[in-house]
Amino acid sequence: MSATADIPHGLPVERDAGPFDPPREITRLREARPVSPLVFPDGHEGWLVTGYEAVRQLMADTRFSSRLDLGVVHVPYETPGMPAATEPSPQIPGMFIAMDPPDHSRLRRRLTGAFTVKRMKALEEHIAEIVERQLDHLAGLTPPVDLVEEFALPVPSLVICELLGVPYADRDTFQADSARFMVREQSLEEKMGAYVALNTYLAELVTAKRADPGEDILSDLARHDDLTVEELTGAAFLLLLAGHETTANMLSLGTFALLEHPDQLAELRDDPELMPGAVEELMRYLSVADIFYRYATDDLELGGETITKGSTVVVSLLAANRDPQRFDNPDELDIHRTARGHVGFGHGVHQCLGQQLARIEMRAGFQALLRRFPNLELAVPADEVKLRTDMNIYGVHELPVTWTGTAQ
Ligand code: HEM
Repeated sequence: MSATADIPHGLPVERDAGPFDPPREITRLREARPVSPLVFPDGHEGWLVTGYEAVRQLMADTRFSSRLDLGVVHVPYETPGMPAATEPSPQIPGMFIAMDPPDHSRLRRRLTGAFTVKRMKALEEHIAEIVERQLDHLAGLTPPVDLVEEFALPVPSLVICELLGVPYADRDTFQADSARFMVREQSLEEKMGAYVALNTYLAELVTAKRADPGEDILSDLARHDDLTVEELTGAAFLLLLAGHETTANMLSLGTFALLEHPDQLAELRDDPELMPGAVEELMRYLSVADIFYRYATDDLELGGETITKGSTVVVSLLAANRDPQRFDNPDELDIHRTARGHVGFGHGVHQCLGQQLARIEMRAGFQALLRRFPNLELAVPADEVKLRTDMNIYGVHELPVTWTGTAQ
C-alpha cells in the first residue's frame, strides 16, 4: 500500500455535492483509484472500494469475509474506543449478514422460502391495503407534516412487523433502540445498551413463539428445533432492522428526489406502468444502503491492487452505482433507463433477502402517494431538509411536506 498525502483519513460522508449524490471525495477517488487506501479514524490503514466492477468482484468473493459487517463488535472503527480487528469478528448467532458460508448458507436457506417472488406476490394486495390505510391517516392530518414519521417509516414497519409477528405496538421502543444502535459515532456504551435492549426484547418474543407458535416467519423459524434461541433472536434482530430502516429511507428520500425532478414525477403519475423501472432507477440513483464492510482473509487482488490479509475493506454501493464505466450519465435520475445490474441490493451470497418485498413496498408506496396527493410538495426549501449522514443507511431525518386537496 503506498502511503501518499492523497490517502483520505476517515470515510467521507458529508453530502457536499447535493443530497442525492456521493460525497465529492468519493467520486474523486473512484475516478483516481477505484480501489483506494483509506486511513480509519483509529489510525489503521484499510481500503475503500468505489468502482462498479471492483465492488461486484469483491461482493462475489467470500474470501472477503462478511464477519465485520454489522453489529457492535463488527464496525469497530466507527465506534470510538474500539480497536481494529485482527481477525474476522466472532459471529453473533443468527445474524447471518455478518457470517460466511457455510454458517451463512445454513441460516439463509431457512429463510429463502419465506421471501420468494411468489410468496411476496401473494402479499401484494395486502401491502397495497396497508399503504392506503396509512395514506388515509396522512390525508386526515393538517399539513405541513413529516412524511417520514407519518408514512415512510410506518409502512415498512407495519409490513415487517406483521410478517415477522412482532407487535407493532412495541415500535417506539424497538425503533429508538435500532436508531441508537445504528448511529455511526455513537459511544460504545450507548451502542451496547441499545443492542442489549433490543436483543432482550426479541429473545423474549422468540421464546414465546417457540412455546406457542403462530402464523408468522419467526414462528416458522422457531418450529425448527435445530435453531437455538440465540440464533432465532439474532435472525429476528437482522430481519427487523433490515426490513424497515432501508425501505423507509428509500420511500422518503425517493419522494424527495421525485419532488426535485417534477417532470419525471408528472410522467410517473400519468403512467403507473413506468413504476417498476422507476423504482429500479431510484434504487440505483439513491443506493440508501450504501456502506458495507468486509475483512480480507487472504492476500487478494482487486482492481489491480493487492489487498493484504487482515485488511478492512469498505464498499460504497452508491459510488459503484454512479460509475460512468457502467451507467451512462450516472448522476442523472432517469426513470426510463434500464438500471438493471445496479448493486443497490448488494451482490453475491449476501444479496438482499428482502428485495422482492422491498420492491413491492416501494412500488405500492410511491404509486399510491402520487395518486392521492396530486399536489404534494416540500414544505421547506430543499437545502433545509435534514440529511441522515450519521448512519451507514442514508436518507433524511425528516421530510416536511404539504399539499392542497387529496384524491382517492
Ligand atoms: C442484505 C439493501 C430491504 C433483509 C442486504 C444487502 C443490501 C441490502 C445492500 C447486502 C448486504 C451485504 O452484502 O453485506 C436493502 C435495501 C432495501 C432492503 C436498499 C430497501 C429498499 C430489505 C427488506 C428486508 C431485507 C425489506 C426484509 C426482511 C435483508 C437481509 C439481508 C439483506 C436479511 C442479509 C442477507 C444475507 O446476508 O444473506 N440488503 N435491503 N432487506 N437484506 Fe436488504
